[in-house]
Amino acid sequence: MTARTQKLFVKSYGCQMNVYDADRMADALGAEGFSTTQSADDADVIVLNTCHIREKAAEKVYSELGRIRKAAQEAGRRPIVAVAGCVAQAEGAEILKRSPIVDLVVGPQSYQNLPELIAKARAGERPVDTEFAVEKKFEALARPAMRPARAPAVSAFLTVQEGCDKFCTFCVVPYTRGAEVSRSVAQVLGEAERLAGSGVREITLLGQNVDAYHGEGPDGRPWTLARLLERLSEIDGIARLRYTTSHPRDFGDDLIAAHRDLPKLMPYLHLPVQSGSNRILKAMNRRHTGAEYVELIGRIREARPDLALSGDFIVGFPGETDADFEDTMAIVEAADYAASFTFKYSPRPGTPAAGRAGQVPDEVMSERLARLQARISERQAAFQRSLVGRRLEVLVERAGRHPGQMGGRSPYLIPVQIESCDAAPGDLVEVDVTGAGANSLFAAPAGGARGAIPQLAEATA
Ligand code: SAH
Ligand code: SF4
Ligand code: F3S
Repeated sequence: MTARTQKLFVKSYGCQMNVYDADRMADALGAEGFSTTQSADDADVIVLNTCHIREKAAEKVYSELGRIRKAAQEAGRRPIVAVAGCVAQAEGAEILKRSPIVDLVVGPQSYQNLPELIAKARAGERPVDTEFAVEKKFEALARPAMRPARAPAVSAFLTVQEGCDKFCTFCVVPYTRGAEVSRSVAQVLGEAERLAGSGVREITLLGQNVDAYHGEGPDGRPWTLARLLERLSEIDGIARLRYTTSHPRDFGDDLIAAHRDLPKLMPYLHLPVQSGSNRILKAMNRRHTGAEYVELIGRIREARPDLALSGDFIVGFPGETDADFEDTMAIVEAADYAASFTFKYSPRPGTPAAGRAGQVPDEVMSERLARLQARISERQAAFQRSLVGRRLEVLVERAGRHPGQMGGRSPYLIPVQIESCDAAPGDLVEVDVTGAGANSLFAAPAGGARGAIPQLAEATA
């Protein structure tokens, strides 16, 4: 290794777990003398932290590799190029064949091996490490970096559970992330306390099926997510807790009660349903009906009436008829979402649904997607408008674009721009919501705004 500090650039795609993993890569390499850079141009090691969930996501990596190759050639540089994440796990050595610029391939469970893999790549090998050893990953990566690779943020992710045993018939995650594994309560607490100590005020617990969490507690027994949240809410300094993503099948009564009993647990829940049709839900292997989902939402709202709900939807799953799609439109009304993510079904190699009869033509998917998105946007706008005039608590995250403006988040996760705000990042402030834009709220410090609110012009009706 040269005397000068090595620079690491990680570009993450896909879900929040990849964002969390990117920081763990920086930790692992930080201990080896690396520091992170925000640009691929001056990096000694470039990691593409990839996502395999839909075809478009997976193909992005190859266009990005092309760009990296071209930029490196033009600059006369030759950084080490690594492909990590779920495409690495799914395609392994295929990536080396398809893209000669790639020096190493590392799956999501092997990031603790990055220093060694980089050394091998420098020696001219092209290593591929796609072993499944989640426990080892967490043991090795739980150690904090010798020097923090990034300035501490106000809000942080913390992976508590990884992998999935649900095998929804459209989904690659059980293959790319392996079986469900929960980290121990002690490990999670240790990490949460370290985060709190570095100034983090909000922690979002991550898991592909986070409500299936069953990590070993200090009593030697498995703890549920609800119990873990209760324990975490005792940490001074941590003001807010969130978790994502949950599966309706694993949503326990104690987690419902936690939404009533834990003031630090924010009233926002991402609970994907995918479809409103019982026939399609069955074909997807979701193992619940539309009515059961709506009933569950009802019980959670009894515990926390102001809960903002978001969901994921897939349109055009094989065999989806117009009638099935109408059932999806109906569940959008019944569940009353504050936000949602909608996707066209993408057949993924190796998943059961990919080879099924009744693949839905792309034009039909596009039409259904447009209708669903339009309805969801209307409801989202209505939800945001319903907050105008309300007093909310905002966790301030950063300075805004204009002088005196600060940006933060509402309890409902929606970004809030606060005018004439003298609070600092990490502060909790009371605000009065003055307007709603497409994706954010505008607000003034509670008890009287000072100055004009220029963003009101952008606000959508
Ligand atoms: N564990 C979460 C979701 C993980 S993937 C859950 O069980 O809900 C995130 C979202 O991507 C899914 O909720 C689904 O809506 C979408 N998705 C997954 N596979 C897909 C596919 N093959 N085509 C289109 N969308 C897909
Ligand atoms: Fe994929 Fe289903 Fe597991 Fe979610 S629950 S990660 S959609 S298999
Ligand atoms: Fe994508 Fe892997 Fe996350 S496939 S959504 S990065 S678990």
